[in-house]
Amino acid sequence: MKSLNIGSIKKSNHLKYSDVKKLSENSNLASEILRIKKDKNAVILAHYYQSPEIQEIADYLGDSLYLAQCASKTNADIIILAGVHFMAETAKIINPSKKILLPDVKAGCSLAESCPPKDFKAFVNNYPDAIVVSYINCAAEIKALSHIVCTSSNAKKVINSIPRSKKIIFAPDKNLGKYLIKETGRKMILWDGACLVHEAFSLEKIITLANKYPSAKFIAHPESTSPILEIANFIGSTSALLNYIQTDSSNSYIVATESGILHQMRKYCPKKTFIPAPVEDESCSCSECGYMKLNTLEKLYKCILNESPEINLNKDLINRSKASIDRMLAIS
Ligand code: 13P
Ligand code: SF4
Repeated sequence: MKSLNIGSIKKSNHLKYSDVKKLSENSNLASEILRIKKDKNAVILAHYYQSPEIQEIADYLGDSLYLAQCASKTNADIIILAGVHFMAETAKIINPSKKILLPDVKAGCSLAESCPPKDFKAFVNNYPDAIVVSYINCAAEIKALSHIVCTSSNAKKVINSIPRSKKIIFAPDKNLGKYLIKETGRKMILWDGACLVHEAFSLEKIITLANKYPSAKFIAHPESTSPILEIANFIGSTSALLNYIQTDSSNSYIVATESGILHQMRKYCPKKTFIPAPVEDESCSCSECGYMKLNTLEKLYKCILNESPEINLNKDLINRSKASIDRMLAIS
């Protein structure tokens, strides 16, 4: 993961002057980041939705569960979370003695924003006997109102760990919630939240593309809507999608999740073809998460140099939200 990938910046063999300049700037930044990181005993945790340049300098690269597990185990003094705000908050809750940095403090998440704590508290109070399961993509205050947290890679396991006699509230992602109802056969009360990236995929255009490439398999993240998931050959978290393309015998895939994942897919299987699933609005790059992409190599450099922006939470909130994450880690 230490070297920069020229192919990620431009596919053509004929690099323009501006590309070469960008590469050399990136490579200088990357080596500076690696040097400072070593001096400060810092570690970079990056999500698969980060830009290729950031993925390449990460010490640990993975899905939301893996990043939480890494944050809980690290011996580093500083954790740079190249991901979004809820991931940095989770790292702080799990390992409060560490300094947690997020390259861009505005890197939020539409799912987390779709569940304001005040409204969720009132919602939960309507079902006093229900077990509250929250998807990790939510604010620390929502985790504090939850019995247990889950990610897309352990959600079925978490739901199945709850006695069948218990009522379940699932928040904030209604799409993942509907998928889990189908998979586990459990009735759940769903919060009405969604991820704008996964809601942007167009069923009609995916079908047209699949007809054009009949040997391509269609794979999707469970944050996608039900009609999209119904036609998928495989559904899974980012890490499950990556495992699938490595073990499956097909040579091409239409991929319905944030397009950052394609960097690792192409690295793992350079001979296979990966096509990002089309979105409804062709004028936007909606399959890119605007929040994830707020982090850049330059911001990461400034962040590690200045040890800012730092993510801090008050002790009371850490104490109230920790139990729900610990329960998830214990069964993962
Ligand atoms: P996973 O990487 O855990 O599948 O989550 C996807 C996601 O949307 C993170 O924000
Ligand atoms: Fe949130 Fe969706 Fe972006 Fe993931 S892809 S961080 S769920 S907005």
